Amino acid sequence: MSQQTPKVHVVKDFDWTAKLVNACDSSLENLQPLLQLLFHCESARQPLRFEFTLTELPPGYITRSSAIIIGGGLVGFGITELLFGSERFYNEVAMPIVHRFCDGETSHRLAVKVVKYGLYPRFGQNHREYPELECEVFGHKFKNPIGLAAGFDKDGEAIENLKKCGFGAVEIGSVTPMPQPGNPKPRVFRLLEDKGVINRYGFNSQGVGSVSNRVRKSFDPSSPVFFGVNLGKNKATDDARLDYEIGVNYFGAHCDYLVINVSSPNTPGLRSMQNKDSLKKLMDTVRDAVNRIDSDQRPKVLLKIAPDLIDSEKRDIADIALDKKYGIDGLIVSNTTISRPESLNSGNKGETGGLSGEPVREISTECVRQMYKLTKGAVPIVGCGGVSSGADAYEKIRAGSSLVQLYSALVYQGFPVVGRVKRELAELLKKDGFANVSEAIGADHRTPK
Ligand SMILES: Cc1cc2nc3c(=O)[nH]c(=O)nc-3n(C[C@H](O)[C@H](O)[C@H](O)COP(=O)(O)O)c2cc1C
Repeated sequence: MSQQTPKVHVVKDFDWTAKLVNACDSSLENLQPLLQLLFHCESARQPLRFEFTLTELPPGYITRSSAIIIGGGLVGFGITELLFGSERFYNEVAMPIVHRFCDGETSHRLAVKVVKYGLYPRFGQNHREYPELECEVFGHKFKNPIGLAAGFDKDGEAIENLKKCGFGAVEIGSVTPMPQPGNPKPRVFRLLEDKGVINRYGFNSQGVGSVSNRVRKSFDPSSPVFFGVNLGKNKATDDARLDYEIGVNYFGAHCDYLVINVSSPNTPGLRSMQNKDSLKKLMDTVRDAVNRIDSDQRPKVLLKIAPDLIDSEKRDIADIALDKKYGIDGLIVSNTTISRPESLNSGNKGETGGLSGEPVREISTECVRQMYKLTKGAVPIVGCGGVSSGADAYEKIRAGSSLVQLYSALVYQGFPVVGRVKRELAELLKKDGFANVSEAIGADHRTPK
């Protein structure tokens, strides 16, 4: 069989015209355009004619197309605002929508996934750093003193991206030795009117095995973002010291700091470990385990305390923290409170659990103030509880905090709160004549406000 060569017409020069015929009847819905293209080729006697007809536009086509175009535009706008970290968009659109459609725990899980898959503010204010916020604590140079508190990324699922959100420090956990489910749901409640949160998670954790695999992959000792792992204990464990020892063994060589969390209110018996004798024994165990770590760099050890301690307990903790033999490098003040301030208005205020956010701000700041005084400013304090603006961070620093952490503010303002706190804090320091944030640590104790 002979093969036929296809005929090819080479058009060297042509001109073209197009016209819309049968354009429409008066209704947009029934638009039936006919597009006619006429190619006038020099080599051809007749113009070449192509016709394009849209004869079967289904009813509602225009409406649907418009909706898709407008909807797509809005989604594009929303994603842009999310990625640029617009404070107004998060405060007035994104967070209220999340609060409307998702319960506390669902929105928490969603937030971790959103960060994990890269939808955090990648540009904008969060990434602006201020020379007056650079500081050195625990022998580490911080680009800013604002850290993420424990409880947001309990299982270390989004470490890499959390480090890119503008924080100077990121803490994951609490992690328990064995995986455990925590308390029954529901166990997270927003107090919208009070800008607070009550949680009774009860240390839901994937356990040291899975979490340490992730931590090992992501830990970079040269990263400017100080990275910490918060350690907890299993509900069913009798000897809590063993649980913390396991935590140290798994994470000690793969983080910048470890947190001994003996202050969560949702694990029975945990807070009693803040008592003098129990704490001494626990810190002996932790110190020995830390000293056994086979690594050039020993992680710093921070003790996280409750804001509800009575004065004598605070004094005991201060003494233990000041005694170098227990190896405590710093204090995190504070965890959530079991108290319920009179001022609470929200319907959820009666839920059992730890209260955080704005209602705990004053309580924890007072605790910072006392611990700074009791330790004579010799033990670095990480102030935590109700920080949602530069003024709140400044208040904690003036009361005696070297660094600050936040969590609940994310529930109400999303991640742009990080950029906001840094910007406002830098402005306040400048206004009061501090060249650097370190100069403001404990300022209230020197010149009462
Ligand atoms: C939902 C939720 C879960 C938390 N989980 C933990 C935790 O696992 N370990 C811990 O030490 N603190 C945990 N915290 C306490 C915070 O780390 C922080 O100490 C406390 O919320 C006060 O800070 P904030 O007012 O900025 O949230 C949790 C807080 C919240 C709101």
